[in-house]
Amino acid sequence: MIVAIIGAGYVGLVTGACLASRGNDVFLVDIDAQKVAVINQSQPPLHEEGLEPLLQSSVGKNLKATVDVNEAVTGADVVFICVQTHCQDNGSIDLTHIEQAIIGVGESLKNRQGHPLVVIKSTVVPGTTEQVLLPALEKNSDKKAGEDFGITVNPEFLREGRAIEDFLNPDRIVIGELDKDGGDVLCQLYRDFNAPVLKVDLKTAEMIKYASNVFLATKISFINEIGNICKKLGIDTYRVVQGMSLDPRISPQFLNAGVGFGGSCLPKDTKALITAAQALGYQPSLLQSVIKVNDGQPLRLVELAAGREGELSQRKVAVLGLAFKPGTDDMRDSPSIKIVNELLRRGALVTAFDPVAMDNARSIFGKEIDYATSAKDAVSDVELVFIVTECSEFNDPVLYRGKKVFCGRRVITPNQIDDDNYEGVCW
Ligand code: UGA
Repeated sequence: MIVAIIGAGYVGLVTGACLASRGNDVFLVDIDAQKVAVINQSQPPLHEEGLEPLLQSSVGKNLKATVDVNEAVTGADVVFICVQTHCQDNGSIDLTHIEQAIIGVGESLKNRQGHPLVVIKSTVVPGTTEQVLLPALEKNSDKKAGEDFGITVNPEFLREGRAIEDFLNPDRIVIGELDKDGGDVLCQLYRDFNAPVLKVDLKTAEMIKYASNVFLATKISFINEIGNICKKLGIDTYRVVQGMSLDPRISPQFLNAGVGFGGSCLPKDTKALITAAQALGYQPSLLQSVIKVNDGQPLRLVELAAGREGELSQRKVAVLGLAFKPGTDDMRDSPSIKIVNELLRRGALVTAFDPVAMDNARSIFGKEIDYATSAKDAVSDVELVFIVTECSEFNDPVLYRGKKVFCGRRVITPNQIDDDNYEGVCW
């Protein structure tokens, strides 16, 4: 099939590269001309495991990036909308980019023959496609959804760092359809993917995406809350989870207690669902607590250190791990930002290291902290070490000889370092 993808961020790029690897002809559209040029040289503009080889095997053959929506949409059978939906200060999602994308796609559809399918992959709160995007597409194209073009919602369930693997081996394909024809075209595109397909209506598909992410966020805040109680009682939360998950109804996944969840999805989606519920006159108190627990979690690690070590002013500290999780350079909503800022507020002298996120860290912290070239370099001249992501580089106990370690992820276990020099945030 011929596929146009609007938005070459991480979802769009991964979708495009994977669909090209399955033999489709793919046009990737982005407003950023520099990004388009980089992709056309087979270089990924962001760090994502396995993306570069996929681009190298398809660019120049069946994948092309362009700034021209018209060029991409004119001959496309399927048009994916994959632009970012940012979070506004009040928690609601900002539809500016997706509305702009819809205007561009709508205008390109105007003079087109055939019956293309528009697929909303961007995460939008339930009801948005039906109430906002579909009418905007009809208005800008002078065409009728269902009759002249199809429309579906197809949420993504890609984890950053494993997005290629997740796309090629999905655990489910959710298709929200306006009518059966639209859903059938998407089924045809995904025919080689070995996964159960669930067809629902547009807003149910939108809700499946939110409910999935918000459930994961809830699991994390739940176990962090149990972990905070365990810490006061001198109990190791990880042993508790071992015991809990012998019950087959409780999966051990996403029960890793620590400094909380970050990234561009779980915090944003939880806040957006809260705001959407409130707009409907419902107070989602469980979801509000999920955010409250998560907001407090990074600071607990610093409070733990201050409680044990006293004043942190003028103390030399290392922060290991800055990205919101290992294997990515993404620092959006990363717990490390709160931890570093709190250490700076208390007057500590911070040296930081992350295996991939140093460039992003420099643009966030500037000259307020020092940057190390390795974990060993970071800890070489400090008294206190804060471990904030579970990178494999940080699991060598030798690194921590003679240091006081405050562990925010379970990268080092209590028995690897003597008790006097080690504190886990929930264990
Ligand atoms: C998340 C979902 O896992 C994907 O299924 C979804 O497609 C994606 O959002 C999205 O909406 O695009 P991602 O943001 O890449 O994926 O990251 P996760 O692997 O879910 O981790 C999120 C955060 O939770 C990280 O900061 C991680 O350290 C933290 N976490 C995860 C915990 O604190 N404890 C855990 O047990 C698991």
